[in-house]
Amino acid sequence: VEATPEWAREIKRLARERNATILAHNYQLPEIQDVADHVGDSLALSRIAAEAPEDTIVFCGVHFMAETAKILSPAKTVLIPDQRAGCSLADSITAADLRAWKAEFPNAVVVSYVNTTAEVKALTDICCTSSNAVDVVASIDPDREVLFLPDQFLGAHVKRVTGRENMHIWAGECHVHAGINGDELTEQARTHPDADLFVHPECGCATSALYLAGEGAFPADRVHILSTGGMIDAARDVQQRRLGNGEQGQSTQVLVATEVGMLHQLRKAAPGIDFQAVNDRASCKYMKMITPAALLRCLVEGRDEVHVDPETAARGRNSVQRMIEIGN
Ligand code: 13P
Ligand code: SF4
Repeated sequence: VEATPEWAREIKRLARERNATILAHNYQLPEIQDVADHVGDSLALSRIAAEAPEDTIVFCGVHFMAETAKILSPAKTVLIPDQRAGCSLADSITAADLRAWKAEFPNAVVVSYVNTTAEVKALTDICCTSSNAVDVVASIDPDREVLFLPDQFLGAHVKRVTGRENMHIWAGECHVHAGINGDELTEQARTHPDADLFVHPECGCATSALYLAGEGAFPADRVHILSTGGMIDAARDVQQRRLGNGEQGQSTQVLVATEVGMLHQLRKAAPGIDFQAVNDRASCKYMKMITPAALLRCLVEGRDEVHVDPETAARGRNSVQRMIEIGN
């Protein structure tokens, strides 16, 4: 199945027929992003899913995102074009792991990144995404201990920004972002000294970026640690700053340290900027399971449907609801 204009028309027609809205994460294939009704980061898509007037949500993203939509809207039908689209980060902590960790710190507040299973969310006090992790942790009584999971690099970023000492961080990581290493970033930053640098906080290299800026190797105001949605807003700002104030002639490059699907929306948002991936092999195989053929099959057959055990969903709902309320 090719992503032709006929395919796109058929996708739109089938979605209308099912009264479905199609959501796509920023890491999806460009053709999937282009046919979707809404494209965004995890937080924006959760909010849209919670408020969607349609009966059906077709989630072009990974499984925990579709599960989160189901937790927020249990009466809706939530479909994912391929239920095998998992997440190595979500797999890095199980409900049993979290139960054991909580037993060690019985009075701690549990903050889980949205990249977790519904079972882990059911044991969580507040969920967060990379857009609002700092705001979520800052909202917690400074005297309470915090268990932050599962991403160690996002955790380190939040700890750095909030200056919070009583925060314990799970040692999980995303294989895609952990693979964007500090050496590659250092090399590119040195060869493009005028470029801005957009780094997702799941990257192992976020610390290197800040270190480079601290060393003076890279202008500190050109390092931005951002969620995928934050990168789109920052792209518009950089375009405005670079091209709107007579900086023409200078480099208008931005180095991007995240999954490569991100480049599509960045290039659409700021066509005057030359976006370059820090690591062009940083592709999430799970995100890319959502192919044009899989989306077509999903809309024709109504599969794969996402189910969350109602009791688990009920226990997880409060933590997800708090996530979508904070940092609004
Ligand atoms: P955000 O879109 O929230 O920045 O998340 C990135 C990610 O890795 C999702 O899997
Ligand atoms: Fe999970 Fe990493 Fe893929 Fe995001 S990029 S869905 S965190 S494996």
